[in-house]
Order: sequence, then structure tokens, then C-alpha cells
Amino acid sequence: MADKKIAGVGGVMASLVDWVDARFPLTSNIKNHLTEYYAPKNFNFWYFFGSLALLVLVMQIVTGIFLTMHYKPDALQAFASVEYIMRDVFGGNIIRYMHSTGASMFFVVVYLHMFRGVIYGSYRNPRELIWLFGVGIFLVLMGEAFFGYLLPWGQMSYWGAQVIVNLFSTIPFIGPDLSEWLRGDYLISDATLNRFFAFHVIALPMVLLGLVAVHILALHEVGSNNPDGVEIKEKKDKKTGIPLDGIPFHPYYTVKDLVGVVVFLMVFAAIVFFAPEMGGYFLEANNFVPANPMVTPNHIAPVWYFTQYYSILRAVPPIGISQFPGVVAMGLSVVVFAFLPWLDRSPVKSIRYRGTLYKRWLAAFVVSFFVLGYLGTVPSNVWGTFSAETPLVGGMDYAKLVAQIFTVVYFLFFILMPWYTKKDKTKPVPERVTY
Ligand code: HEM
Repeated sequence: MADKKIAGVGGVMASLVDWVDARFPLTSNIKNHLTEYYAPKNFNFWYFFGSLALLVLVMQIVTGIFLTMHYKPDALQAFASVEYIMRDVFGGNIIRYMHSTGASMFFVVVYLHMFRGVIYGSYRNPRELIWLFGVGIFLVLMGEAFFGYLLPWGQMSYWGAQVIVNLFSTIPFIGPDLSEWLRGDYLISDATLNRFFAFHVIALPMVLLGLVAVHILALHEVGSNNPDGVEIKEKKDKKTGIPLDGIPFHPYYTVKDLVGVVVFLMVFAAIVFFAPEMGGYFLEANNFVPANPMVTPNHIAPVWYFTQYYSILRAVPPIGISQFPGVVAMGLSVVVFAFLPWLDRSPVKSIRYRGTLYKRWLAAFVVSFFVLGYLGTVPSNVWGTFSAETPLVGGMDYAKLVAQIFTVVYFLFFILMPWYTKKDKTKPVPERVTY
């Protein structure tokens, strides 16, 4: 390009780009991943959530850096330092609310992103690795949220961590030593706060960034799926080799994704400015009380994005006094997503061409996800009062019974999947994407 000698600023830019290109694959990467990366032309709103997850990831890192400038990871100072951020640091309240709202919105976006993958069969061949990296991201994200929640050192931070770390002590043989090792002490203490801080601000974010990078690399290797579940690479232009149903990611989807970003930021700002606690769902009332190891709160419940799994934990009956079966069920309820690519035996990918059998099972799963999510917010002592007031089967409590039924439905969605996806009456898939 430089030998064409373009005049003026354009010429300087062109030679600068040439200079960089001779030393770093800039133009080739922009081409491979943006201007000559061909994405299916039939993306709908479900395809906003990947870029939104990226946006929230960046927001969490940036607001997190500013919080770290004023936060003190010390059991005697942590709570007060958060109050200081809220009251005295310039813009501190906005930064803190952006970070706490960002945590919940991260899960909203990631749940919708995963659901899109489920309805369009995006986890299927050849995208299994994209999915597996995604499940890895999901697990790390859960760890990130858990470690972060201890940092404000409120009552819920303290007792939530206490409950979760104690779950590890139910593991046979190694459990008690393991939970002591995790805490770095016999109880949740300053040592625990210090290590959770290290995990939250550096270790897990690094893993998360690495996983997101390989997630997107894997995606760009095989190309995106789409709402029809048709492989666009199978029908290419004979001369150019470009998929007939593909359009360049940039400018088409960069501009489209911006629409999603604007709508998302409007919702996000509305929450940050008008309802940052979200009625106790995003920030729990008990966490505005400093941690007190001598006073156990009446109601210890995780934040909404963990309540499904918490319900499953409470629904599974203990063996003797050991909660281990519940802990195993809770772990499985998350890890089971990793097996989807191999459980689904349908000849079609997208829900558009699946039959009613699959749709009914998916609906049952979604209902169970919401019911378990709700029941997880109901205090354990209320699960108890239900039994005193409305004994159902031999004094078994009502909320627990409902949670048990939906826990079974939740797992049956996965366990029976090879059967119902094979038996389902599917519709013929079109050769090209519908638009
Ligand atoms: C920090 C979290 C995540 C980020 C930043 C992220 C980012 C992205 C982006 C930018 C895309 C391409 C755009 C799109 O298809 O929406 C994508 C696609 C995809 N992601 Fe994620 N993702 C995240 C988490 C997850 C999780 C938790 C899963 C599943 C367990 C997942 C599964 C997938 C799949 C299957 C695709 C391909 C979808 C298709 O082609 O139809 N991702 N991701």
C-alpha cells in the first residue's frame, strides 16, 4: 500500500499500518475475526448476549479496579471501607452499585446466552468445545461471585461463606481437612478474607479471561450456529468461497450488537440509579449489617443466581446426619450441562424443527429452574414452618416436597434426553437459512 504513495494523513496511517503489519498480524487478524469473518445472516436477539457478556466482563474488571483502590481486605476494616466507598469516595456509590448490579446482570446475560445455546442446539457437533469452555466459564463465574460476596464482610457474606465452605466438610474422609484448608483457619476469619480477595481480584479473573479467549477462538474456528441450526459453511459461493448465507461480522453485527448494548445499558442504568438493591435480590438487607461470628442470621440465603442449586441441596435428604448426597446433587446440577452435546440425539439442532416431546421437556426444565430458584429464596426456617402448619405426607414440609418434585424434573430433563430427543417427531430442516 505504501508504494501507492497516498497523500496526507491517510498516507501516514497506511504506512503506519504497513509498518505494524510487518511486525504484528494486525490487518490479517482484523480480516479473520471481523471484516472477513462470515456470520450467518439470520441472527436474532438471542445472539446479543455473547457480546453483552463481554461488555459486562469488561465493566466488572474496570469497576473492580476502582473498588480495589479504596477497599481494605482486612476483617477489621473491610465493612467500613465499603461504607467509605459508598459515602465519601467521589462517585464511589455509583462504582460499587455498578459492580454489584454487574454481578447479577452477568448471570442474567449468561443464563440467557446458555439458553440460546440450548434452544438452537449450539452445543452440538462441531461446537462441543465452545460449549465446554462455556461451562468452564460458568463454573469460574460462580466461584468469582462467591469469593466476591465475602469481601463486604457483612452478615450474609460471613454466614453464606460459612455455609458453603462447610459443605466441603461433608465429603467423606478428606472433608473436614479440606474445609479448614479452604478457610485457612478453623472458622471464617481474616485469613479467609485475604485469600478470597486474592482469588476474586486476580486468580479467577485471569482464568476467566483465558477461558473467554479460547471460547471465542473455538467459535471462530468452526463458525457460529444460527436460529435454524443450518451449517452455512456447507453452501459456499463457488468463486469466492464465501458462505452464501454469511455476512461480514463487521460492520453488520458490530452495528447490530450496538443496539443490544444501548438497550442493555438503559436497563442497567435504571437499576443502578433507581433500584440497586433490587428488592433484596441483588444486595441482601442482612449484608448491610457488619459480620458477627457470634450471631447467626435467621435466614441465610444465597443471591438469586445460586438459589436453584441451593434448593436442590436442601431437597435431597441426608444420609444420617451427612448432607453429602445433597452436596453431590448440587454439584451435579451444574456440571450436568457439560454433557448436553452427548445427551442430545436429535437429528436436528434448532428448536424450530424439533417436535412437541422435546419442547415439553424443555418447558418442564424451565419451570423447574424458576420454581427451584424461588424456593431457594424461601428461608430454611419457613420450609420448617410449612411442615408445622401444613403437614402433607407424615409431617414432610410443603416447600421441601415441591423442591423434591422439581429437582427430579430438573434431572430428568438431562437423564431422559437421549430417549426423548431420538423419539421426537422432527420437521425437515431447510437447506439454507430462513430469512
Ligand atoms: C463471560 C462469559 C461469556 C462470554 C463473554 C461469552 C462470549 C461469547 C460470544 C461473544 C459469542 C459469539 C456471539 C454469540 O453467539 O452470542 C459466544 C458464543 C457461544 N457461547 Fe459464549 N460466552 C460466555 C459464556 C458462555 C457460557 C457460560 C456458555 C455455555 C455454557 C457459552 C456457550 C456459547 C456457545 C455454544 C456459543 C456459540 C453459539 C452459536 O453459535 O449459536 N458461552 N460466546
